[in-house]
Amino acid sequence: MHIAMIGTGYVGLVSGACFADFGHHVTCVDKDADKIAALQRGEIPIFEPGLDALVAANVKAGRLHFTTDLAAPVAEADAVFIAVGTPSRRGDGHADLSYVYAAAKEIAAALRGFTVVITKSTVPVGTGDEVERLILEANPAAEVAVASNPEFLREGAAIRDFKYPDRIVVGTSDERARKVVGEIYRPLSLNQAPVMYTARRTAELIKYAANAFLATKITFINEIADLAEKVGADVQDVARGIGMDNRIGTKFLHAGPGFGGSCFPKDTRALIKIALDYDAPLRIVEAVLSVNDNRKRAMTRKVSHVLGGNLRGKTVAVLGLTFKPDTDDMREAPSIPLVTGLLDMGANVRAYDPVGMEPAKRELPDIVYCEDAYDCAAGADALVIVTEWVQFRALDLPRLKAAMKQPVMVDLRNVYRPEEMAAAGFVYEGVGRGKA
Ligand SMILES: NC(=O)c1ccc[n+]([C@@H]2O[C@H](COP(=O)([O-])OP(=O)(O)OC[C@H]3O[C@@H](n4cnc5c(N)ncnc54)[C@H](O)[C@@H]3O)[C@@H](O)[C@H]2O)c1
Repeated sequence: MHIAMIGTGYVGLVSGACFADFGHHVTCVDKDADKIAALQRGEIPIFEPGLDALVAANVKAGRLHFTTDLAAPVAEADAVFIAVGTPSRRGDGHADLSYVYAAAKEIAAALRGFTVVITKSTVPVGTGDEVERLILEANPAAEVAVASNPEFLREGAAIRDFKYPDRIVVGTSDERARKVVGEIYRPLSLNQAPVMYTARRTAELIKYAANAFLATKITFINEIADLAEKVGADVQDVARGIGMDNRIGTKFLHAGPGFGGSCFPKDTRALIKIALDYDAPLRIVEAVLSVNDNRKRAMTRKVSHVLGGNLRGKTVAVLGLTFKPDTDDMREAPSIPLVTGLLDMGANVRAYDPVGMEPAKRELPDIVYCEDAYDCAAGADALVIVTEWVQFRALDLPRLKAAMKQPVMVDLRNVYRPEEMAAAGFVYEGVGRGKA
């Protein structure tokens, strides 16, 4: 199959490289000329484990190309995927569809022969209808079917998620489109990935419902963590105790600083807006978003509380800035409101992240960036673990203690055990671990 991937970001680049790895001929298109130039030089513009080798191997095999010119790859494509961004629209929280619609119009002009246009971006229900309308308005003779194929990969484990998905959702009622999309994903049938065919609007809603449900699970356990602290219970045991029930499951029950990242905040926001537009408000999701927003400031208060309620002139060391480990993505990372809150309260902040410091500097210019965890801890009154990079899971505690002004750790990911920290001479505060 010949595939054009429009948008070469976290989703487009991984999807394009994986499709090429399946044996298809893929051209990744992006408006960002610097990004394309870097890819053409063999440089990967994002951090995603394993992606450099996958891209290099498929470029070498002649199956993966990069360009800023959309017309040629779309003209020869059997399938065109739209994988451009759908960020929150400034001011109202609806999904900003301007990139999707701009891509649709450009695609329309370039189509030749029967082509399936597939929306991979996360888009509100009915966007497929509008993409189809825009294409046929711009090119009434176009032989096109518009399908939805939402993406469920997680940054940091994106290649594995793409190659071993729990399911592939394809929204289309067009037989020819089904055949093309089925053929594209056929190599995955060896991995027994179930393909679920459904109506286009249903596929669009599945993606938002999935993200809202996962965000709800995280927020639920975060609220239970707050209660556990008050009543003297351990939220990690609670999570295990409920997670072993198959109806609940253990995933997404880790108490922490609240969800962030490139998807959950914007997608819950957009889903709430979609629901209001259809007069079917989603009260649970509204509560999830609001509880999660309040939690960010609460994490700053937690740090302040451990240091006696006054951060003025204190130095706080922050380990981990990206929204999760194994990515350089800083979009809506919990570290941003946390660090901003610490600065607001008068603290000096030092920070270290294994890969996210360059993007972090754009978001958080007024802090000191350090060489490693121990350099970060130097002279600090408290150390806060915000993102649980593997590098922070087995820190040399005596060395850390010696570097700090006082041995205080706030562990927002519950990486360490309270007994172990007490034995190492630290004042330690995790999340949801009340003292019985
Ligand atoms: N990042 C994730 O983990 C993830 C997971 C599942 C779904 N999604 C969804 O996938 C979509 C893309 O997300 P992302 O994280 O890859 O975004 P991203 O911002 O990393 O990448 C989007 C890319 O599209 C390019 N672009 C925008 N308009 C274009 C146009 N008209 N023509 C060509 N290129 C254009 C941008 O330059 C950018 O490189 C979003 O809708 C997102 O919600 C993301």
